[in-house]
Amino acid sequence: MKIIIDTDPGQDDALAIFLALAASDRLELLGITTVAGNVPVDLTTANVLRLIEVAGRGDVPVYRGASQPLLRPLKTAEFICGPDGLEGAGLPPPKGKAQKKHAVQYILDTLEAAEDRSITLCPLGPLTNIALAFAQRPDLKAKVARVVLMGGARDLGNVTPAAEFNFYVDPHAARIVLESGVPIVLFGLHATHQAMATHERTAAIAALGTPVAKSIHGMLSRHRPGAKAKFGVEGHPMHDPCVIAYLLWPDLFTGRDCHVHVETEGAATMGSSVIDWWNSTKNPPNATVVDVIDDAQLFERLTRQLATLR
Ligand code: RIB
Ligand code: CA
Repeated sequence: MKIIIDTDPGQDDALAIFLALAASDRLELLGITTVAGNVPVDLTTANVLRLIEVAGRGDVPVYRGASQPLLRPLKTAEFICGPDGLEGAGLPPPKGKAQKKHAVQYILDTLEAAEDRSITLCPLGPLTNIALAFAQRPDLKAKVARVVLMGGARDLGNVTPAAEFNFYVDPHAARIVLESGVPIVLFGLHATHQAMATHERTAAIAALGTPVAKSIHGMLSRHRPGAKAKFGVEGHPMHDPCVIAYLLWPDLFTGRDCHVHVETEGAATMGSSVIDWWNSTKNPPNATVVDVIDDAQLFERLTRQLATLR
């Protein structure tokens, strides 16, 4: 399976990237594109370089993407992920550099050269790059097999009462992607909050004893006063790794096809994902929305898979 990861690391993005690299026998990671989200795009780009280097995969090409949302001002989340976006990772500055080509151009060039329905896009942050690619060359949507994304929420948001961070940061991009007609699998907060990196699960990863495992342990065992103050919990929900885990182990997930509307007007509801779980609107489904995760198996298999990384 040929994939492109579009990402805004972010500790949970980091675990998703490590999982994809650890599953290179099943996932052909063509490239990683970066976007402004958890932290500004210069930092998310440096973070991707740091992560692939500690995993011994400095060969994976990295492409710097959008530095701000389509229309909204950029909102970042340092209060959750720390000033550089990877608090606790303990990784040195990157040695390598991003490619000269822009992320959106890379996505388009890759799609142009691909067979129909052959590329899986895995957005883990705001959908700005994906929306720009689809808007620029709608004809190339035919080359996309699926978009498997983390974003949205069936109930409470995590930025506002209504909106999840990735959709809140760039609601216009999220709407473009959800209305693109491309097959979508959506992991919202209602699902990803089931994937909690508890102390026990984080300790099991640390026990692997590799440089990657040490970095993951540092990221997921650190205290997060911002999250504790807002959400009242210390655990780290592993939102983004669910996307990669779905590609590897779809049997761990259940969901249903629904219509999903992304709000781009409402003052209090901007960025909310209105998920028509009961088909009230009779609008045709535009996404498979995951709702139940076998989190025990997810962490067991994820930890086993990470053992293959150096
Ligand atoms: O709301 C959670 C999402 O926002 C995750 O992808 C996290 O990394 C941030 O990008
Ligand atoms: Ca992310």
